[in-house]
Amino acid sequence: MNFNRTDFPKGFLFGAATSSYQIEGHQFGGAGPTHWDTFATGPGNVVRQENGALACDHYHRYPEDFALMKQAGFDSYRFSTSWARVMPDGINVNPEGLDFYDKLVDSMLENGLKPAATLYHWELPSALSDRGGWTNRDVAKWFGDFTATIMGRIGDRMESVAAVNEPWCVTWLSHYIGHHAPGLRSLRAAARSMHHVMLAHGTAISTMRDMGMSNLGGVFNMEYANPADNSPEAARAAQLYDGIYNRFFLSGALRGEYPADVLEGIEPHLPDGWQDDFPVITAPLDWVGVNYYTRKNLRFDDTPWPSLEEVEGDLPKTALDWEIYPEGLAFFLKRTHEEYSKGLPIYVTENGMASDSGFDDQDRIAYLNAHFAAAKDAMDAGVPLAGYYVWSLMDNFEWAHGYKSRFGMVHMDFESLKRTPKASYEALKIALTR
Ligand code: FCB
Repeated sequence: MNFNRTDFPKGFLFGAATSSYQIEGHQFGGAGPTHWDTFATGPGNVVRQENGALACDHYHRYPEDFALMKQAGFDSYRFSTSWARVMPDGINVNPEGLDFYDKLVDSMLENGLKPAATLYHWELPSALSDRGGWTNRDVAKWFGDFTATIMGRIGDRMESVAAVNEPWCVTWLSHYIGHHAPGLRSLRAAARSMHHVMLAHGTAISTMRDMGMSNLGGVFNMEYANPADNSPEAARAAQLYDGIYNRFFLSGALRGEYPADVLEGIEPHLPDGWQDDFPVITAPLDWVGVNYYTRKNLRFDDTPWPSLEEVEGDLPKTALDWEIYPEGLAFFLKRTHEEYSKGLPIYVTENGMASDSGFDDQDRIAYLNAHFAAAKDAMDAGVPLAGYYVWSLMDNFEWAHGYKSRFGMVHMDFESLKRTPKASYEALKIALTR
């Protein structure tokens, strides 16, 4: 890497991130079915119809994974807790699930890793999905109960906790675009889920606050919205994309309002009384997490609202065809600080790239160098950035892209489950330990 630990302030947390369904092996330990298991059975939803049944078998092999984290000199590990593992039907408790996370957290601590938990990283229990999932207002209460249950067991040892990973993916991507479970394509379902996910977020934060926990935050994904051409229409298209993708959730959680340009399309579909929920939604946060990967180029087309068309851009791309645009990370860190979080510590909670270059992933090293440099620029401009988590520790189940897209610093042989550090892992290890 072209930086090392001493280029960042003392106490800055260097970490790696994963999520439960993507690595654990959902078939183990009495976990219940999730909407991702269901979604994967549909034709064309997931590459090769793969699912997370085995994944990286982290369920049994976590000591090896944490040893790799420790050897590389990471300070913190961002993981998530599977609702369906802890509560197989979304309501009743599976003691084995609680035992698993209890042991997992102890093992992190034994390896000198500060546990940074995310309560929900997308695998909704099927039983709750059958009851409407995120489109059902009751999901906020169910999520509050899950929060109390899992944090009642491991909450005493958390460095930090976030409620929901990437509200945009949970809602718009999954209920309007249909690219993720449950695969709906409906503006009404999207609007309702967008509001309910915010309500669930606020409910989880207050639940943990009432339990005496601290260092609670929200993790938002952001994509830089670039106009596809120089026309004022393309500028408006980019602005609207930015509203739906980036500003809606930040504004809900931190300002207690939804942006007018987004309301224009979704308000008719929001549940009655939505305006009264902001006192819950704006439960005070201690930090904000930014997940950043890429930018999109936008213009309008003649489809129904929001009438957005994504146009292929001309920047270098990752193996998933995502444009590489590090400046976008600096932009979002500054904007989040100046306009939304106003002085709260910010973390880069995910950043990384899909690459097909195998063990010698020089492209990933270059990507990380450029994005760490952008983060440094933002810090020089006054952003209180407190840590940076690389996505991901190891190759894993990349949702609709199955096991084909590899984001790991550690290579996974999905047959033998052998873990092999790539060049990026070795480079970060030098940066963090010398
Ligand atoms: C993020 C997700 C994470 C992974 C990366 C590549 O949106 O949080 O699970 O899929 O993208």
